[in-house]
Amino acid sequence: MGTEGRTALVTGANGGFGTRLLLAMVASGWRVTAVVRGGEDRLALHPALQKALRAGQLAVLDLDLDAYVRDGVARPLVDGPLDALVNIAGTSLFGSVSDVPLADYRALMRLNVEAPYLLVQAHLPALARAKGVIVQTSSLSAAMPIPYYGVYASTKLALEGWSEALAHEVAPLGVSVFCVQPGAFRTGVQHRMRFEPPASLPALLPSFRVFRAFVQDAGIRMAEDPDRFAERVLHLVERRSGAFRQPLGPGSAVVRWALRIPERLRHPLVRAVLWARIHRAPSLAMGERSGVVPRT
Ligand SMILES: NC(=O)c1ccc[n+]([C@@H]2O[C@H](COP(=O)([O-])OP(=O)(O)OC[C@H]3O[C@@H](n4cnc5c(N)ncnc54)[C@H](OP(=O)(O)O)[C@@H]3O)[C@@H](O)[C@H]2O)c1
Repeated sequence: MGTEGRTALVTGANGGFGTRLLLAMVASGWRVTAVVRGGEDRLALHPALQKALRAGQLAVLDLDLDAYVRDGVARPLVDGPLDALVNIAGTSLFGSVSDVPLADYRALMRLNVEAPYLLVQAHLPALARAKGVIVQTSSLSAAMPIPYYGVYASTKLALEGWSEALAHEVAPLGVSVFCVQPGAFRTGVQHRMRFEPPASLPALLPSFRVFRAFVQDAGIRMAEDPDRFAERVLHLVERRSGAFRQPLGPGSAVVRWALRIPERLRHPLVRAVLWARIHRAPSLAMGERSGVVPRT
């Protein structure tokens, strides 16, 4: 069966991943409802998207997902059977559990976990009717959390946790569930990232600075084209083949390889590799390095 006329709901549609996915889905004949906080004007004015808007192939829903979650009601955003729900909207934060305020953690959970939770709950009947597909945007950091990415990674781990159980539950109904785990991609996310220094534990500051520089550098130097994300998601919603977790982009090969190593060996190895970076970092004074290397 072709994809012409199939229906999809996409959140984060005006972001780096979302815009590329809209273009790919529209080109492939999907009818897409795009969730965009602020409405149509915030969508990239790409000629193909304008054309799809005029033709009714693309509809924009002005919705703030924070407000949707605060309402707490699993309210469907589209009528009729739904072939695909793609949850992309999300945000990130770089900092340790030592200092990230609980309010900020909750805000991250609200957008990265509770919004997809409520959207899935609201649309499962429509997805079941169409034997549809759910694609969640996780992160490579959920596969292997690195220092100061734990708070963010925990939101993606929570997302993956209930999505994995759901995948088993709804498979007999013909509904497929996937989690894409992107590494660094060139989208808006790097520019929006918040950094929360470990002020309450100054001994962590040197490693915080090194990892912050690493993350910022990866966001610029290693980051890949978000078209790869769009291609992968299009493949998942159209072919429904592949593993539940879909590591993608920079770092994914290394992470896949590292995960084959038993944890009791992997953790010391990861720490040794990561902390070796601190000793190589030219920006750090010798004094800052002392006393920060943990026992592996
Ligand atoms: N790019 C990467 O390197 C990377 C790597 C791993 C995972 N990810 C994941 O990819 C997703 C982000 O996509 P992106 O990289 O394309 O980043 P992005 O360009 O920053 O897009 C984020 C999207 O989320 C939307 N959003 C944020 N808060 C919202 C709210 N309250 N209500 C409705 N929409 C809201 C944004 O809309 P506004 O413009 O209105 O804020 C935007 O459309 C996140 O889930 C992120 O964790 C990205």
